[in-house]
Amino acid sequence: MKVTLSVIKADIGGFVGHSGMHPALMDIAKEILEKEKDGLIDYYVTHCGDDLELIMTHTKGIDNQEVHGIAWKIFEKCTAKAKELKLYGAGQDILKTAFSGNLKGMGPGTAEITIEERPSEPIIIFMADKTEPGAWNLPLYKIFADPFSTAGLIFDPKLHPGFTFEVHDVVEHKRVFFKLPEDMYNLLALIGQPGRFVIKRVKRNLDNETVSISSTQRLSMMAGKYVGKDDPVMIVRCQSGMPAVGEVLEPFAFPYMVAGWMRGCHHGPFMPVAFEDAQCTRFDGPPRVIAAGFQLNNGKLEGPVDMFKGPAFDWTRNKANEMADYIRRHGPFEPHRLSESEMEYTTLPGVMKKLENKWLPVTQE
Ligand code: F6R
Ligand code: MG
Ligand code: MG
Repeated sequence: MKVTLSVIKADIGGFVGHSGMHPALMDIAKEILEKEKDGLIDYYVTHCGDDLELIMTHTKGIDNQEVHGIAWKIFEKCTAKAKELKLYGAGQDILKTAFSGNLKGMGPGTAEITIEERPSEPIIIFMADKTEPGAWNLPLYKIFADPFSTAGLIFDPKLHPGFTFEVHDVVEHKRVFFKLPEDMYNLLALIGQPGRFVIKRVKRNLDNETVSISSTQRLSMMAGKYVGKDDPVMIVRCQSGMPAVGEVLEPFAFPYMVAGWMRGCHHGPFMPVAFEDAQCTRFDGPPRVIAAGFQLNNGKLEGPVDMFKGPAFDWTRNKANEMADYIRRHGPFEPHRLSESEMEYTTLPGVMKKLENKWLPVTQE
C-alpha cells in the first residue's frame, strides 16, 4: 500500500513569548483534523517550542492541494485565536494571506514522503525549535555514512552499498547529489556549512528507496527580512535494511552546536528532550529537538513513543547545559554570536545601516 506522510509546521503564535504553545491552538488543530479525517488516514498534533506540528497520513501524494489546504486552514484559524488571546507573534510564519493550492513559499515548513509501506514500517519524526534546517546535517551524516555510529553500514548487506544524499544550496536554490561512501569528502565539504548547504533527502543505494526527508524552507530567505529561524522537521524510516531505531537516535547523544537560539543569532548546544520538556526557556533555548516514534499500520499512526524520554539521554542534556553555560559567557562575541555571513539574514544589516554615515577613512594609525 502506498502511503504519504506529511509533516507540516508553523509558528503561529507563542505562549509565553517565543517559548511554547498555548493548548487552545493545539485543540483547534485537533478539532479541524477530526472534521477533515475522511480525506486522511490518520493524524497527530504536537508542538516543539512555539511551533505547531501537524502529522498527517493519506493516499493523496506529496504537495497535495487538499492536504496543504487543511494545514493552511488550521494555521489561519490558530492565528485568529492567537490574536484573540494576544499570544506572542501571532501569525509569525504566515507570510501570505491567500492560499493558492500549495504551501511552498508561504511560510510553513513541510517534509513529505510517499512510501510503499513495508510489512513493518517504523519511522521517527524529529521536530526542532530555535534552529535551522541545516541542523539535521550532522546527524544525517552520522546515521547514513558513519560506521562508528551506524553499525549496520558494516554488518547489514542492505546498508553496505551506502546511501545517496541530496544537498540543497538554500541561498542559490540549486541541488547536488553525493553517492556515499565514494563521495564522502565532497559531501562533507558542503554540509559542514549548514547555514547554506542542507541535506534534503537520503536514498538507499541498494534500490533507490527514500529513507529520510527534511524540511528545507528558510523563512528569512522568503520574507526578505528576519522573521525567525526555520525550526525544521525531519522524517527517518528505520529497521530491516534501514538504520535501526537506536542507530537513528545515536547521533543525538552528542549535544552538537547549532545556529539559532536567542534572536536566531547564536550558536548553542542542540538538546534532545522529552515531549513534556519541549519548552524553550534559558536565553530562549537552548535549541531543542523532540523525536516521535511511530509504527505505520496501513497508514495509521501507531504511537507516538517519546524517544528522547528517559535516562539514556540524561547525560546529553546535562552536557548541553554545561556547554550552554560555557558558550553563554562569550556574550555578544563570536563564536557564540553567529558569523557575519549568517547574520546577513538577521537584524545585523539594520544596525550596519544606522552606522553607515559614521564611518571615516583611516588616514593615520
Ligand atoms: C528565535 C526567537 C526568539 C526571538 C526573541 C526576540 O528564533 O524566536 O529568540 O528572536 O525572543 O523576539 P522579539 O524580537 O519578537 O521580541
Ligand atoms: Mg516564535
Ligand atoms: Mg519556533
